Amino acid sequence: MKTIVVLTGAGMSAESGIRTFRDHNGLWHNYRVEDVATPEAWERNPELVLDFYNERRKQVVEANPNAGHKALVQLEKRYRVKIITQNVDDLHERAGSSQVYHLHGEIRKSRSTKDPGLIFPIEGWELKWGDRCPLGSQLRPHIVWFGEAVPAFEGATQIVKEADVLIIIGTSLSVYPAASLLYYADASIPKYYIDPQATPVNDVRNLKVIQKKAGEGVPLLMEELLGE
Ligand code: OAD
Repeated sequence: MKTIVVLTGAGMSAESGIRTFRDHNGLWHNYRVEDVATPEAWERNPELVLDFYNERRKQVVEANPNAGHKALVQLEKRYRVKIITQNVDDLHERAGSSQVYHLHGEIRKSRSTKDPGLIFPIEGWELKWGDRCPLGSQLRPHIVWFGEAVPAFEGATQIVKEADVLIIIGTSLSVYPAASLLYYADASIPKYYIDPQATPVNDVRNLKVIQKKAGEGVPLLMEELLGE
C-alpha cells in the first residue's frame, strides 16, 4: 500500500468557519503574536492568553469538518494516509482520519506548567486561571507558542521521508520549521499544493499547484488518486 503524507494548515479548516492567521481578516491582523502566543505573553498576562485560546476553542467546538477533511478520509480506502497538521483543531480526527500528527499542539487539551508530559482533555471550551494539574501548578493551553521548540518536528520529518505522494493544503508555508517539511520528501515523488494562493515553491520538484479552496480541490484530487 502506498503512503500519502498530507501537510495541512489553517486554510484546511477555513471553510469550517475557523479563521486563518495571515489572510485578509486573519487572526494576526487583529491580535499581536507577542500579546497572546509567546511564553513572555503567558508570564505577563496569562488571563489574556487564556481568553484568546478560550475564544478559539469555542469556535473549534462549534465547528464541523468540511468536504476537504472528509475527502482525506476517503483516501484511506486505497492508501496509508498520514496527516501532519499545523492546526490545533481536531477536525481531521472528527472527520475520521486515523493518523493525525499535530505539530503545533491541540487546543482541546491542557498541559501542566510543571511537567509538560501531563496533558489533559479540556471539557467544553473554557480553561480558567486557577485550573490546576494534579501537581498543583496552573494548566496552560497545549499549544506550541512562538519561541518554543516543536517537539513533534523530528518525528514529522521521518514521516515525510516515507511518502510516496505528498499533498500540501491551506498553508502559507511561512512558519518554520513546519514549512521546511516538504524538503524532506523524496525529490521524485508527486506533490500537490492545494491553496487559492498557492505558487510554485523554490527547489521543490514535481509540485502541481492547485489554486482552489480545500473544500473543492481536495475532493477533486481524491477522485483522481482513487481512480489511478
Ligand atoms: P496562514 O494563515 O499563514 O495561511 C493560511 C493559508 O490558507 C493561506 O495560504 C491561504 O491562501 C489559505 N486558504 C485560505 N482559505 C482557504 C481555503 N478555503 N482552502 C484552502 N486554503 C485556504 O496559516 P498557516 O500556514 O496554517 O501557528 O500558519 C502556520 C502557523 O502560523 C499556524 O499553525 C499558527 C500560526 O501562527 C501557531 O499558532 C504556533
